[in-house]
Amino acid sequence: MSDTYLELVSGGPGAGVAKKLGLPRPVRLRRTDPAAVDVPLVPGPVLVLSDARSTPDADVVAEGLLGWDLDVHRDARGDHGRWGAVVLVLTGLTHPAELAAPALELGSVLRSLTPGARVVTLSRTAPAAGAPADPAVAAARQGVDGFLRSLAKELRAGATGNGLVLGEDVALAAPSVRGGLRFLLSARSAFVDGQLLPVGGGGEEPADWVRPLVGTVAVVTGAARGIGAAVARVLARDGAQVVGVDVPAAGEGLAAVMNEVRGTALQLDITAPDAAERILAVARQRYGHLDVVVHNAGILRDKLLANMTPDRFEGLLDVNITAPLRMNETFAAPGVLGGAGVAPRIISLASTSGIAGNRGQTNYATAKAGIIGMTRALAAPLAGAGGTANAVAPGFIETDMTASIPPVPREISRRSSSLQQGGQPVDVAEAIAFLASPQAGGVNGQVLRVCGQLVVGQ
Ligand code: NAI
Repeated sequence: MSDTYLELVSGGPGAGVAKKLGLPRPVRLRRTDPAAVDVPLVPGPVLVLSDARSTPDADVVAEGLLGWDLDVHRDARGDHGRWGAVVLVLTGLTHPAELAAPALELGSVLRSLTPGARVVTLSRTAPAAGAPADPAVAAARQGVDGFLRSLAKELRAGATGNGLVLGEDVALAAPSVRGGLRFLLSARSAFVDGQLLPVGGGGEEPADWVRPLVGTVAVVTGAARGIGAAVARVLARDGAQVVGVDVPAAGEGLAAVMNEVRGTALQLDITAPDAAERILAVARQRYGHLDVVVHNAGILRDKLLANMTPDRFEGLLDVNITAPLRMNETFAAPGVLGGAGVAPRIISLASTSGIAGNRGQTNYATAKAGIIGMTRALAAPLAGAGGTANAVAPGFIETDMTASIPPVPREISRRSSSLQQGGQPVDVAEAIAFLASPQAGGVNGQVLRVCGQLVVGQ
């Protein structure tokens, strides 16, 4: 679906009118264009800042960025043009007061960011409630959370602010830290904003950063349209072979998408008791193994609870949570996923409604919060098999599903994020492709929001 307001105000006289009237001014986001060659990872020089204690870690980060042919600076002074990104290394913080100097230094360069710039913090995980900890260290680490989320709300012109939160012993040069940093700096994370992604050790640097999924076989449910179709396209772009699943009624759309990505179409209702076995059989017969499962198929049956009917509540749970749970009994069993050196991945579609709740969506939010619980429970068994289980929680994404929302609430939802617009299916697909990649092997049991920092649940 197109966003007419965005088209009107993102340039020309419309932009001036919107500014004068104090109206939202969304801009076109920096996204990956598969047809474009030689597009730099970051659209300008990269400034690496740190607090005093984190300088050695910042050196490691800067060296890694240089290895990607980026124009890296450690000092904001001098003639360098507009910054494409600022990386703030805060891994050595021991007291919140130590955050002031690098925060203010960052503040001084915010007016010289390019459109679509990135600010990325690297910090350490705050201790869990009840764990023995130094209160000042805990305050400093948790402080980064509040700082980053507020900063992201101040950025303009499609710039985003996100952070990686490293486990206690995770090295700055760990594949998942480098992989996460590269994702957040790149155009692939266009609609990820205000998020702090926990990163553990593990993962592997891909042989090819541009096509990290070569040799991987993935199944995507609900692949005939919307987000699922975009996931199939992006996984295939990144080198994966794709089995696309959808209901027989969507067979034509599914065939078109699978032809486009040279994948395999499987007409199947995921609520069928033997859905997982049928998917496995097709993947193994065509490609020899199955590595990545993307639980994307989902439905909406919105109604206020007072008016809810059993078929709307139970029917939604059947598709959105019971089917993935049942299929995972097969997929998460030892030795089923992963082959030819590819690590297993289960990636499921949650929703911001499952985090924050949403009026009229008691059924949907039950299922989507359930997806988050399921993902956390799968993390340990998948890690045991060298794999990961993660969820992606989209906010408002422009698809047929959201086109069915009445105009006024639809327009309110669109403008309620820091980026003041809905995301595109490709934005969710990029996050899923990152989580499927070898470099994301240290991200496990997490929920990555792709919501433009939607106000709900932040
Ligand atoms: P969509 O309605 O455009 O596409 C869903 C696809 O799933 C359709 O092709 C449909 O035929 C298929 N499907 C439905 N039931 C099925 C079944 N029983 N077996 C096999 N396939 C089935 O939806 P959209 O917007 O692309 O959403 C995809 C996923 O993302 C869903 O899980 C949805 O809940 C989630 N999501 C979407 C958001 C949005 O803003 N569009 C926001 C948050 C989450």
